[in-house]
Amino acid sequence: MTRLIIVSNRVSPPTGDGKANQGGLAVALASALRATGGIWFGWSGNETDEFTGQINISKTHGVTTATIDLEAQDVEEYYNGFANRTLWPLFHDRIDLAEFERGFAGGYERVNARFADTLMPLIAPDDLVWVHDYHLIPLGSELRQRGVRNRTGFFLHTPWPVMRLLLSLPSHRQLVEALFDYDLIGFQCQAWLDSFMEYVVSEFQGVDVDELGTIRIGDRVTRVIACPIGIDTQDFMASAASEEAESARLEMLASLHDRCLIIGVDRLDYSKGLEQRFHGYERLLLDQPEFQEEVSLLQIAPPSRAEVVSYQDIRKQLDALSGHINGEFATVHWVPLRYVNRGYDRTSLAGMFRASRVGLVTPLRDGMNLVAKEYVAAQDPEDPGVLILSKFAGAAEQMTEALLVNPYSPEELSDALAQALRMPLEERRQRHRALLKSVEREDVHWWLRTFLDALEQDRTEPEQDGAD
Ligand code: ADP
Ligand code: G6P
Repeated sequence: MTRLIIVSNRVSPPTGDGKANQGGLAVALASALRATGGIWFGWSGNETDEFTGQINISKTHGVTTATIDLEAQDVEEYYNGFANRTLWPLFHDRIDLAEFERGFAGGYERVNARFADTLMPLIAPDDLVWVHDYHLIPLGSELRQRGVRNRTGFFLHTPWPVMRLLLSLPSHRQLVEALFDYDLIGFQCQAWLDSFMEYVVSEFQGVDVDELGTIRIGDRVTRVIACPIGIDTQDFMASAASEEAESARLEMLASLHDRCLIIGVDRLDYSKGLEQRFHGYERLLLDQPEFQEEVSLLQIAPPSRAEVVSYQDIRKQLDALSGHINGEFATVHWVPLRYVNRGYDRTSLAGMFRASRVGLVTPLRDGMNLVAKEYVAAQDPEDPGVLILSKFAGAAEQMTEALLVNPYSPEELSDALAQALRMPLEERRQRHRALLKSVEREDVHWWLRTFLDALEQDRTEPEQDGAD
């Protein structure tokens, strides 16, 4: 089996039993690495006074990780800067929040070059190299410039923006050209792939594109696929049915006093539509007062990227809005909105999902959204909750039996909440059955296989040394 090298900004090696607090992605990547004897390479999360390129290699539960420390300036310009103040807002249609500073772009290039310099010696001739996410778009190109000829793939976990927005990035062409150095580029769904292709066809003269997604430009050949990421469905279903999850579920039910639980679980990120979600809930309580004291919204939102001002701002707005909603509607016996800024272990989350009648997943833009899939996997098939899902999440392409909503509209959110809360058991079961089918079929193992098979098959012509 060909050895795999995974590269991502963050590295999360397995902890404890290898599962407890791990996302499905980390667990799946870890098992692929274990099987191939591969390496997971990335930033340690630590800062150092001066970049040395020293690699810290360790092996945890059969997975080898190789990490490097970055300088404070790197973290500021590359991670907080270009990745999270330029690309993330731009890729999530928030051009109003995107900052186009040359210093950020310089830091992004520098860190990608540093990744390439330190990773190079670890790559053996037959390794498959798989780079993840917007932090590392130029890495493939940096590796090629250093003579790496391995099959190299890239997967974007976020959306790809429409062309009109991408053009506002001063280095848009350079960014996309760098992608042509990968053999395979994976997107979460067809919509993001289509946006990418629209840009490629219109921006590059003489590009040749076929219906299989092969892009030929000069002497470079790459292929694009839509390959939606999934969760470790069997594992999540088992967690949700475990005794530990059952006690979390019972504890939650006891606190509800027979009220219906609506649940949301998201990183505290402006792309998740939390403000709009709270407004939609407020609208439900205003327009359909019969739900007052009958429902409770639990929003779990652990803080994220706290050094970035737009994240500090959204946190303040949500603090104020949650206070306003509770002030407006609460009684001495009822808190309409439980707003919690902390993380929970996955089993407790599964139990809380199972205790709920409605799962509210309403990002304004999202590459995929795994919470939607986890919500479905956690349900009791005999008495399942209803998923309300944003049309603007990548997951909406697969999860068409959810109640699909426009997350910007408080009225649509309020209507969908009322529909979900009143939905007859048989309809809930039918929708859940259909959703679970696709969540089971296209799980994280399917995703991994599909991408890696395509990467292995799509051997492109070897390029000239020193090309580019
Ligand atoms: P994103 O990658 O943008 O954060 P996703 O929905 O795709 O969004 O993935 C989020 C992952 O983080 C899911 O696996 C989810 O269960 C997990 N998660 C989100 N909030 C919490 C929380 N409060 N506690 C534990 N895990 C969380
Ligand atoms: C999204 C991104 C990931 C990122 C994660 C958490 O899922 O696509 O690349 O790791 O958010 O964000 P953070 O900035 O904390 O790594």
